[in-house]
Amino acid sequence: MATRQALETRLGVVAGFEEPHAALEQYPTPPGLAAHVVHLADLQGDIEARTVVDLGTGTGMLGLAAALRGPARVVGVELDATALATAQGNQRRVGAAAPVHWIHGDATRPPLDIAEPVTVVMNPPFGAQTGQRHADREFLSTAADLADVSYSVHNSGSQEFVESFAADNGGEVTHAFAADFEMERQFDHHTERKTEIDVEVFRIEWA
Ligand SMILES: C[S@@+](CC[C@H](N)C(=O)[O-])C[C@H]1O[C@@H](n2cnc3c(N)ncnc32)[C@H](O)[C@@H]1O
Repeated sequence: MATRQALETRLGVVAGFEEPHAALEQYPTPPGLAAHVVHLADLQGDIEARTVVDLGTGTGMLGLAAALRGPARVVGVELDATALATAQGNQRRVGAAAPVHWIHGDATRPPLDIAEPVTVVMNPPFGAQTGQRHADREFLSTAADLADVSYSVHNSGSQEFVESFAADNGGEVTHAFAADFEMERQFDHHTERKTEIDVEVFRIEWA
């Protein structure tokens, strides 16, 4: 298996959002964080030869990270067509051999019926722009329906919510770690050139 650092380097070519929408919380996942999540998933046997679904795929960063680790296929679901076009360009840049399917649609009602075991990877909107706490709930609910294992990025302070959501929906959090999420200035409400926020990542096994 290649190193996490090698994966991060390959992801360095992924372009950001061309026309980011604040309401959709279009912040690209930093390559280092995407590499961390997918390297851990690979070590757990959750990527190779499996179907990996990236909910709210945006630039494709998480799905393309998975595509570099030998999955059967990757499916990226995204509401915004412009972002999907960026993800397709990124697929060419990254040059992963695995088949990748891009679906334009609502990730909380994905038009998917997959018989094989599914791993979900996602960095869903946190609700920061809409003031809607736990906007990630619907994404977790989709993961519970679709996947037997999921990896999700949430804002810090989410552990209690995620653990109780998982328990209420037949899931169990098996791994959790904290990480930094560095965002380049891309919206008017950003006053600094770079902002760092704290996030938490959870691996959940769904029954
Ligand atoms: C925080 S961004 C993460 C994007 C992606 N992981 C990346 O690194 O580029 C959240 C993404 O979810 C998308 N999104 C928000 N609500 C959605 C929905 N209901 N269905 C599909 N995509 C959605 C946004 O457009 C955005 O691309």
